[in-house]
Amino acid sequence: MRTEVKSYPAPNKLATATDLSPQEGRAVTEAVNPLVADAFALYVKTKSFHWHLYGSHFRDYHLMFDEQAEAIFESIDVLAERVRKVGGTTIRSISHIAQLQTIEDDNSSAVPAGEMILILMEHNGRMAKNIRDAISVCDKNRDSATSNQLQDILDKTERRKWFLYEIMQGSKNIE
Ligand SMILES: [Fe+2]
Repeated sequence: MRTEVKSYPAPNKLATATDLSPQEGRAVTEAVNPLVADAFALYVKTKSFHWHLYGSHFRDYHLMFDEQAEAIFESIDVLAERVRKVGGTTIRSISHIAQLQTIEDDNSSAVPAGEMILILMEHNGRMAKNIRDAISVCDKNRDSATSNQLQDILDKTERRKWFLYEIMQGSKNIE
Protein backbone atom coordinates (compact mmCIF):
# COMPACT_ATOMS: atom_id res chain seq x y z
CA MET A 1 0.00 0.00 0.00
CA ARG A 2 1.12 3.54 -0.80
CA THR A 3 2.15 6.04 1.84
CA GLU A 4 -0.23 8.99 1.77
CA VAL A 5 1.66 12.25 1.27
CA LYS A 6 0.46 15.23 3.30
CA SER A 7 0.92 18.60 1.62
CA TYR A 8 -0.25 20.90 4.40
CA PRO A 9 0.85 22.11 6.91
CA ALA A 10 4.48 22.19 5.79
CA PRO A 11 7.17 21.08 8.25
CA ASN A 12 8.67 24.08 10.11
CA LYS A 13 11.69 24.48 7.85
CA LEU A 14 9.43 24.65 4.79
CA ALA A 15 6.69 26.82 6.27
CA THR A 16 7.07 29.84 3.99
CA ALA A 17 5.95 33.09 5.65
CA THR A 18 2.74 34.41 4.10
CA ASP A 19 -0.01 36.82 5.09
CA LEU A 20 -2.58 34.23 4.01
CA SER A 21 -4.18 32.44 6.94
CA PRO A 22 -3.43 28.71 7.41
CA GLN A 23 -6.96 27.96 6.14
CA GLU A 24 -6.39 30.05 3.03
CA GLY A 25 -2.97 28.50 2.39
CA ARG A 26 -4.39 25.03 2.82
CA ALA A 27 -7.32 25.69 0.47
CA VAL A 28 -4.98 26.92 -2.28
CA THR A 29 -2.56 24.02 -1.74
CA GLU A 30 -5.35 21.47 -1.94
CA ALA A 31 -6.78 23.08 -5.09
CA VAL A 32 -3.46 23.37 -6.92
CA ASN A 33 -1.57 20.15 -6.11
CA PRO A 34 -4.05 17.92 -8.01
CA LEU A 35 -3.54 20.21 -11.03
CA VAL A 36 0.22 19.67 -10.79
CA ALA A 37 -0.32 15.89 -10.61
CA ASP A 38 -2.63 16.00 -13.64
CA ALA A 39 -0.16 18.16 -15.55
CA PHE A 40 2.51 15.49 -14.98
CA ALA A 41 0.10 12.73 -16.05
CA LEU A 42 -0.99 14.64 -19.16
CA TYR A 43 2.60 15.59 -20.00
CA VAL A 44 3.66 11.93 -20.01
CA LYS A 45 0.60 10.87 -21.99
CA THR A 46 1.08 13.60 -24.60
CA LYS A 47 4.78 12.66 -24.93
CA SER A 48 3.84 8.99 -25.17
CA PHE A 49 1.48 9.81 -28.05
CA HIS A 50 4.27 11.88 -29.64
CA TRP A 51 6.53 8.82 -29.48
CA HIS A 52 4.02 6.08 -30.37
CA LEU A 53 2.12 7.72 -33.20
CA TYR A 54 1.60 6.04 -36.58
CA GLY A 55 -0.34 6.83 -39.75
CA SER A 56 -0.66 9.45 -42.45
CA HIS A 57 -0.75 12.48 -40.12
CA PHE A 58 2.47 11.48 -38.43
CA ARG A 59 4.44 14.67 -38.98
CA ASP A 60 1.63 17.10 -38.05
CA TYR A 61 0.53 15.30 -34.92
CA HIS A 62 4.06 14.39 -33.85
CA LEU A 63 5.03 18.07 -33.89
CA MET A 64 1.79 19.29 -32.31
CA PHE A 65 1.96 16.78 -29.45
CA ASP A 66 5.49 17.95 -28.72
CA GLU A 67 4.41 21.62 -28.61
CA GLN A 68 1.52 20.71 -26.34
CA ALA A 69 3.71 18.62 -24.02
CA GLU A 70 6.14 21.52 -23.70
CA ALA A 71 3.37 23.96 -22.69
CA ILE A 72 2.05 21.48 -20.11
CA PHE A 73 5.55 20.94 -18.73
CA GLU A 74 6.09 24.70 -18.31
CA SER A 75 2.93 25.00 -16.19
CA ILE A 76 4.18 22.44 -13.66
CA ASP A 77 6.96 24.51 -12.11
CA VAL A 78 4.85 27.68 -12.01
CA LEU A 79 2.06 25.94 -10.10
CA ALA A 80 4.29 23.93 -7.76
CA GLU A 81 6.15 27.11 -6.77
CA ARG A 82 2.87 28.96 -6.13
CA VAL A 83 2.05 26.24 -3.59
CA ARG A 84 5.42 26.75 -1.88
CA LYS A 85 4.92 30.53 -1.83
CA VAL A 86 1.64 30.18 0.08
CA GLY A 87 3.19 27.87 2.68
CA GLY A 88 2.19 24.48 1.33
CA THR A 89 4.29 21.60 0.06
CA THR A 90 3.87 20.11 -3.37
CA ILE A 91 4.53 17.01 -5.47
CA ARG A 92 7.31 14.80 -4.12
CA SER A 93 7.29 11.64 -6.22
CA ILE A 94 5.71 9.52 -8.93
CA SER A 95 3.65 7.78 -6.21
CA HIS A 96 2.46 11.18 -4.97
CA ILE A 97 1.35 12.00 -8.53
CA ALA A 98 -0.51 8.67 -8.64
CA GLN A 99 -2.24 9.58 -5.39
CA LEU A 100 -3.61 12.86 -6.81
CA GLN A 101 -3.97 12.41 -10.59
CA THR A 102 -7.42 12.27 -12.18
CA ILE A 103 -6.06 11.85 -15.71
CA GLU A 104 -5.52 8.12 -15.99
CA ASP A 105 -2.39 6.47 -17.41
CA ASP A 106 -2.57 4.70 -20.77
CA ASN A 107 -0.30 1.71 -21.35
CA SER A 108 -2.01 0.52 -24.57
CA SER A 109 0.38 -0.99 -27.09
CA ALA A 110 -0.92 1.07 -30.06
CA VAL A 111 -3.49 3.89 -30.08
CA PRO A 112 -4.91 5.00 -33.48
CA ALA A 113 -4.11 8.66 -34.24
CA GLY A 114 -7.78 9.74 -34.31
CA GLU A 115 -8.29 8.23 -30.87
CA MET A 116 -5.25 10.06 -29.52
CA ILE A 117 -6.86 13.32 -30.60
CA LEU A 118 -10.13 12.43 -28.84
CA ILE A 119 -8.39 11.31 -25.66
CA LEU A 120 -6.23 14.44 -25.43
CA MET A 121 -9.19 16.68 -26.20
CA GLU A 122 -11.17 15.11 -23.36
CA HIS A 123 -8.24 15.41 -20.94
CA ASN A 124 -7.47 19.02 -21.81
CA GLY A 125 -11.17 19.82 -21.46
CA ARG A 126 -11.28 18.18 -18.04
CA MET A 127 -8.14 20.03 -17.05
CA ALA A 128 -9.68 23.36 -18.16
CA LYS A 129 -12.69 22.71 -15.95
CA ASN A 130 -10.50 21.79 -12.97
CA ILE A 131 -8.37 24.90 -13.46
CA ARG A 132 -11.50 27.07 -13.57
CA ASP A 133 -12.67 25.49 -10.29
CA ALA A 134 -9.24 26.11 -8.74
CA ILE A 135 -9.38 29.77 -9.83
CA SER A 136 -12.55 30.27 -7.82
CA VAL A 137 -10.92 28.64 -4.77
CA CYS A 138 -7.94 31.02 -5.11
CA ASP A 139 -10.24 34.01 -5.52
CA LYS A 140 -12.20 33.06 -2.40
CA ASN A 141 -8.95 32.70 -0.45
CA ARG A 142 -7.33 36.05 -1.41
CA ASP A 143 -4.65 34.44 -3.58
CA SER A 144 -4.84 36.52 -6.73
CA ALA A 145 -1.26 35.67 -7.74
CA THR A 146 -2.08 31.97 -8.11
CA SER A 147 -5.37 32.93 -9.72
CA ASN A 148 -3.50 35.03 -12.32
CA GLN A 149 -1.10 32.21 -13.16
CA LEU A 150 -4.01 29.80 -13.47
CA GLN A 151 -5.81 32.15 -15.86
CA ASP A 152 -2.83 32.09 -18.20
CA ILE A 153 -2.55 28.30 -17.92
CA LEU A 154 -6.29 28.00 -18.55
CA ASP A 155 -5.95 29.98 -21.77
CA LYS A 156 -3.14 27.69 -22.96
CA THR A 157 -5.16 24.61 -22.00
CA GLU A 158 -8.16 25.86 -23.98
CA ARG A 159 -5.85 26.56 -26.93
CA ARG A 160 -4.78 22.89 -26.93
CA LYS A 161 -8.39 21.79 -26.66
CA TRP A 162 -9.35 24.05 -29.55
CA PHE A 163 -6.63 22.65 -31.84
CA LEU A 164 -7.57 19.08 -30.95
CA TYR A 165 -11.27 19.77 -31.45
CA GLU A 166 -10.80 21.28 -34.90
CA ILE A 167 -8.56 18.42 -35.97
CA MET A 168 -11.24 15.99 -34.78
CA GLN A 169 -13.72 17.63 -37.18
CA GLY A 170 -11.61 16.40 -40.10
CA SER A 171 -10.24 13.17 -38.67
CA LYS A 172 -13.34 11.00 -38.36
CA ASN A 173 -11.90 8.48 -40.85
CA ILE A 174 -8.35 8.41 -39.57
CA GLU A 175 -7.19 5.06 -38.26
FE1 LIG B 1 10.58 14.24 -29.67
